[in-house]
Amino acid sequence: MAAIVDLGAFLKLFVVPGNNRAAKVYDLLSTHNNLGERSLYLNLGYWDGPTTYDGACQRLAERLGEFAGLERGQKVLDCGFGFGDQDLYWLKRFEPASIDGLNITESQVRRARARVEEAGVSSRVRLHVGSATRMPFPDGVFDRVLALETAFHYDTREEFFREAFRVLRPGGRIATADILPLEGGGTGWFHRAAERLGRSFWQIPKANQYPRAEYARRLEGAGFKNARVESIADKVYAPFARYALVRLRDADVRRRMNPLVRWGWQKTVGPMARMELDYVLAVAEKP
Ligand SMILES: C[S@@+](CC[C@H](N)C(=O)[O-])C[C@H]1O[C@@H](n2cnc3c(N)ncnc32)[C@H](O)[C@@H]1O
Repeated sequence: MAAIVDLGAFLKLFVVPGNNRAAKVYDLLSTHNNLGERSLYLNLGYWDGPTTYDGACQRLAERLGEFAGLERGQKVLDCGFGFGDQDLYWLKRFEPASIDGLNITESQVRRARARVEEAGVSSRVRLHVGSATRMPFPDGVFDRVLALETAFHYDTREEFFREAFRVLRPGGRIATADILPLEGGGTGWFHRAAERLGRSFWQIPKANQYPRAEYARRLEGAGFKNARVESIADKVYAPFARYALVRLRDADVRRRMNPLVRWGWQKTVGPMARMELDYVLAVAEKP
């Protein structure tokens, strides 16, 4: 029965694309349609040594935390937190005073709240349902606003930059790990068709499709200064694809993953690694 529900949800994503329906994608992926060994992370990972999906995802969370200058005692806002793995990790690794999380997918928020409670840290981690483009927080209250592999979904990413600027205190920083097209990349018909299909399924607004240099300009356009946008694509796409193609054949994944979703991953993960995509870490400061 779950497989049939997944199938309907899967097809609908192509039929009615666009307009910030990312929550539908993540409801579909749920907790059974992912690649984690034990974690519920949902990112592509940073593969400079890790040999497991969980390890690479955690390493990406660590790289973003370092890039952001996360430090003990800070007040952090985490946008698009998935099932909350990164928040539990950042709490231990960087010891911020508190983390508020904002996520548009209610099913993830429910599960993440239960995990936070189980870990006994609900006084420091508060998770909210809501969009990173309309933050339910007053001005100037956070030291850091983070978005780990999520801002490409926002309608629009620039609206998120403006909201992040508003809720940060002066001297505070925004930091993202994000998916972008490469400068001048992908002009052939095959690339254009694949890009369109990918954007429909993953609910990525066209307005967010600009390369690295423009990303820095748009951060500065929202009021930030000292924007740094660095590519880490070589540590993301190809090693993720190599790992995923093996992982998708594991008994554990075959048992729980919907066959259609597994087939979708198998068909797209190789081509995705060859598409002209960038993957960046970005940071900028509120003056
Ligand atoms: C690729 S997943 C990454 C999850 C998590 N950061 C991780 O690394 O495992 C993208 C996340 O962005 C969230 N998301 C998408 N659009 C959003 C929005 N407008 N506001 C807040 N969260 C959003 C999704 O619900 C999902 O949790």
